[in-house]
Amino acid sequence: MAGKWGSCGRALNSPWPSLLRNCYGQPSQMVHGQFLRKCDIKLKCRTLAGLPEVRNKVSFAKQRFSTWQSTVDPKEMKKFQLLAHKWWDEQGQYAALHSMNDIRVPFIRDSALNLRNDPHLGSPLSGMKILDVGCGGGLLTEPLGRLGASVTGIDPLEDNIRTAEVHAAFDPDLAKRIQYKSCALEDIVEEASEQFDIVVASEVVEHVADVETFLKCCGDVLKPEGSLFITTINKTQLSYIFGILVAERVLGIVPAGTHEWEKFIAPEEVERLLESNGFSVKTVRGMLYNPLFGSWSWIENTSINYALHAVKSSTQEHLDPHEASQDVEKEESQTEAGVRTAG
Ligand SMILES: C[S@@+](CC[C@H](N)C(=O)[O-])C[C@H]1O[C@@H](n2cnc3c(N)ncnc32)[C@H](O)[C@@H]1O
Repeated sequence: MAGKWGSCGRALNSPWPSLLRNCYGQPSQMVHGQFLRKCDIKLKCRTLAGLPEVRNKVSFAKQRFSTWQSTVDPKEMKKFQLLAHKWWDEQGQYAALHSMNDIRVPFIRDSALNLRNDPHLGSPLSGMKILDVGCGGGLLTEPLGRLGASVTGIDPLEDNIRTAEVHAAFDPDLAKRIQYKSCALEDIVEEASEQFDIVVASEVVEHVADVETFLKCCGDVLKPEGSLFITTINKTQLSYIFGILVAERVLGIVPAGTHEWEKFIAPEEVERLLESNGFSVKTVRGMLYNPLFGSWSWIENTSINYALHAVKSSTQEHLDPHEASQDVEKEESQTEAGVRTAG
């Protein structure tokens, strides 16, 4: 699968995050440390003047990564690094994510159960393997584990993972069902190909560097007929007013600078990307945050926050764009050969 989609991994420009980070003296664990081990980087900071030069000086230990695109945006990592120990402060900067559990956990549970023939009372998600991508401190990973699922939480930021691990350790029974790993999604597509029944990316898509690659990789690690759950923010005037001006600058619900409007994405665009990668979108629902009560509710309108549930097709019916272009090239060269023979 990873080979089929091809682009779910590291691009030649992917060393940039690590290189810039190290040059500016930020902590080496900031972005998936694994990546540095994969690359043989022979660069000095002063050589970072231009991308072509950098490309020439970076050699990759594993060549197959050379055409892959990184989904990790180093600027985003820097923001999350500052709050890596704040995840479990229910009144703190992540209060809105804590209260979002009141609606997102039932949404995931009920949508998954609707597709399941053998509900396990008490542990409704038992037997299911869930990947929580961009798990942060594990705010969503833990309740999903409590529903009986075996949950893997991944996040590129090591300090987030450390916070998540420390917190899960307070509940040894739960800790048995949860594992955390500091890495980007594209780092695990090969080892985890078609491994998960459910992939969750909650409040993550608006922080990634390359949404298309990110969504393709979500499909890669899902079993056929597996479910993908996304919550994110629409790209509208209202989302600019409420998601950035009001939430960040007036009410301080989230720290200023958390979001960039340019990175928000319309549900129609997510749908388009998913459907071109073999998903069928089942549900898109609007979500509304009430700052007075610190609570979330479902609404029809999706113009600010929304949740989406998509199911991966049982077979890869979709046509991979890369393969499609290869097919066209093949056909063209066959036609040319035929013309030459005929001539
Ligand atoms: C707003 S937080 C959401 C955390 C968690 N999903 C939740 O809802 O509680 C976004 C998280 O996405 C992570 N992240 C950012 N870019 C990512 C990427 N390319 N792949 C995976 N995770 C990413 C960040 O490190 C951060 O922990």
